[in-house]
Amino acid sequence: MQKKPTYEKLEQRIQELEREAVRQKKAEEALRKNKKMLAEVAAKNEELDSFVYRVSHDLKSPIVTIDGFVGALREDFGDVLLEDGHKYLRYISDAVRKMELLINDLLDLSRIKRVTRKKTGFSFARLVKDVLKALQPQIKARGIVVNIQENLPVVYGERRRLGRVVDNLLTNAIKYIGKENPSPRIDVGVEEQDGQKVFFVRDNGIGIEKRDFDKIFQVFQRLPSAKKQAREGTGVGLTIVKRIIEHHGGKIWLISEPKKGSTFYFTLKDKEA
Ligand SMILES: Nc1ncnc2c1ncn2[C@@H]1O[C@H](COP(=O)(O)OP(=O)(O)OP(=O)(O)O)[C@@H](O)[C@H]1O
Ligand SMILES: [Mg+2]
Repeated sequence: MQKKPTYEKLEQRIQELEREAVRQKKAEEALRKNKKMLAEVAAKNEELDSFVYRVSHDLKSPIVTIDGFVGALREDFGDVLLEDGHKYLRYISDAVRKMELLINDLLDLSRIKRVTRKKTGFSFARLVKDVLKALQPQIKARGIVVNIQENLPVVYGERRRLGRVVDNLLTNAIKYIGKENPSPRIDVGVEEQDGQKVFFVRDNGIGIEKRDFDKIFQVFQRLPSAKKQAREGTGVGLTIVKRIIEHHGGKIWLISEPKKGSTFYFTLKDKEA
């Protein structure tokens, strides 16, 4: 009498274990498939990066040629060209300039993951101040008050690239501060979140809808609200910012509300031991 339930229990347990083994096998199989897919995506990404690099690199030389001949036309035939002729040359020059900016952005973008520059420790406050110096004309023209928090820490990373991060975030904050903003303001600082240093660039500009939070980090994505504020822009800026931050082992995200403003947050890794 005593043996039967024990035997049944044993049988039950064996069946459970068998089911568990099947589940585990399925999970392992799914994991293997996921890993394979990830590897494929990574390889495709790499392929795309080197394609972008090659194409943008090769586009540089025809652009130099166009630019050179526009200059030659102006110099050698400037006095026989009518006013319209000069106007057309200006249009060509402007278009060439835009193309150059775009190509350089694409080249930078494709380089970030492939090329690592020297990492150093440096003052974040100094970096922000250096970047702001070059942006003074736009800041003044829009009457923006910029507030940099005191006692910003020393950070560790590729200084020039982190300068690019700060530059792109500040340029966006200025560009999208809103034409009708009565008291335009930008804040740069650092705060503690879950025991981690989080840097931020905050503006009280036009803001972004929640549904667009991911979209704006994708390449060539510009929101309609932004196009009304600034015609200039290719939509590569934040893609570069995200890549640089991730290349440094950090994360970037934002909180924002239309008409209230945006705060872009990012983390950086401390110096590796
Ligand atoms: N601070 C901000 N406030 C409101 N919208 C913003 C802000 N920063 C970015 N955006 C939105 O995100 C889009 C993508 O930004 P991103 O910097 O990548 O491109 P861009 O500024 O349009 O062009 P560029 O490549 O010259 O930087 C912008 O076009 C704009 O719609
Ligand atoms: Mg930008």
